[in-house]
Amino acid sequence: MHNLIQKYNIPGPRYTSYPTVPYWDQEGITLENWIATLKKSFKESNTSEGISLYIHLPFCESLCTFCACNKRITKQHSVEVPYIDMVLKEWSMYCEVLEDKPNIKEIHLGGGTPTFFSSENLEKLIHGIFEIANKAENFEFSFEGHPNFTTTEQLQVLFDLGFTRNSFGIQDYDPKVQKAIHRVQSFEAVQQVTEDSRSIGYNSVSHDLIFGLPFQTEESIRETIKKTVELKPDRIAYYSYAHVPWIKGNGQRGFKDTDLPQDHEKRALYELGKQLFFDAGYVEIGMDHFALPTDSMYTAMESKTLHRNFMGYTSGKTKLMIGLGVSSISDSWYSFAQNEKNIDDYYARLRAGELPIFKGHLLSNEDLVVRQHILNIMCNLETSWKTPDMQLEALPEILSHLKEMEADGILNIFEDRLVVKEEGRMFIRNVCMAFDLKLHESKPETKLFSMTI
Ligand SMILES: C[S@@+](CC[C@H](N)C(=O)[O-])C[C@H]1O[C@@H](n2cnc3c(N)ncnc32)[C@H](O)[C@@H]1O
Ligand code: SF4
Repeated sequence: MHNLIQKYNIPGPRYTSYPTVPYWDQEGITLENWIATLKKSFKESNTSEGISLYIHLPFCESLCTFCACNKRITKQHSVEVPYIDMVLKEWSMYCEVLEDKPNIKEIHLGGGTPTFFSSENLEKLIHGIFEIANKAENFEFSFEGHPNFTTTEQLQVLFDLGFTRNSFGIQDYDPKVQKAIHRVQSFEAVQQVTEDSRSIGYNSVSHDLIFGLPFQTEESIRETIKKTVELKPDRIAYYSYAHVPWIKGNGQRGFKDTDLPQDHEKRALYELGKQLFFDAGYVEIGMDHFALPTDSMYTAMESKTLHRNFMGYTSGKTKLMIGLGVSSISDSWYSFAQNEKNIDDYYARLRAGELPIFKGHLLSNEDLVVRQHILNIMCNLETSWKTPDMQLEALPEILSHLKEMEADGILNIFEDRLVVKEEGRMFIRNVCMAFDLKLHESKPETKLFSMTI
């Protein structure tokens, strides 16, 4: 196993999209193409399944030095209202393009820290969204919160607005690790938001943990997980630390590279975590997630309806996801479009009356087939090329990569399908890479991706 880890621990995408962002069309999608595919997707899905909204709320009061998210650090809460006004302006521009009133099945507030915003402003945002949209049947709204910056009032207000799921960033409870990543928070703060969520009525509370952080040891992880399972969150994200210090503004500088656990040590932390989660009654979902069998993510996995998008795994799938806010990515299934990443550029584009997208990708037929294979592998650990719509000209080339993985005991190849073995789960990003035709065409010259393991 040690040798396999060395062999397969290479830089690779996390496949929250295919093609992955660095491989989107060089010229970017034209506004016409984006609008045309948006309308097509909307027509196909607005009546039955409804659409999803991802709203990026980028502000945080304090910088965590491991963080790879798009965020802006400030203590000035006067930024809230202008930002919400801009997001609502963007939304109204979309609604004009879409003609019919959207039925919203899912909303996810991501960040940054959505709970940086006051209850009053969160209410203003959601009311503004529904001034020109309807709630779809069985809608599901969720948000991310920071335990140090989430009040009972915010939890209540969001619940009253229809939110029933939340996730809190925990990362690690060890004082030495917390200090190194500049993220100090107490067990009591996490306990408070978790218990408050439960008593208010949230039906799914998730905790984010990371393995591979500076100074983590098996002993410290054991303690962090012990505290986590004591609170019995419905879901746990157990992320592999993505060390991407070359991303501008990341601030991953509170520790040295030599403070990080090495390949095999990091893997041992994952294996230990997995065992402790199993012992506590959790089931592993796709890559880096664990859920209690009572949670909808588990049900989605069982019924093979688990989906993966820019937010990671979700238990519901919609064809169209519109991303609002700075840096958000929209997905019409046939195309992707990303908003300006800098907040001033985002504002300037909206003030000029333009949708603030600056790059994107129109998927070819081949991209669509590869995308489905990668989704199948990431969500169900298997895929099949039996039906004509799943066939690819490049299959012989793909199979040659897969055969090597079969010989390494990662997966089994049958006549017209492959199944990743349980022991191969840690290599699913590598299995997806076999299908990634864009990556085969041109290997990145600079470092773009975090390590796969
Ligand atoms: C937007 S943050 C969560 C909400 C809130 N800002 C907080 O920190 O509590 C989303 C999650 O992404 C994960 N994350 C951020 N940077 C990461 C990195 N470099 N590697 C792995 N996971 C990361 C963290 O677990 C974090 O909780
Ligand atoms: S981890 Fe959360 S709170 Fe920390 S900087 Fe990133 S988005 Fe902000």
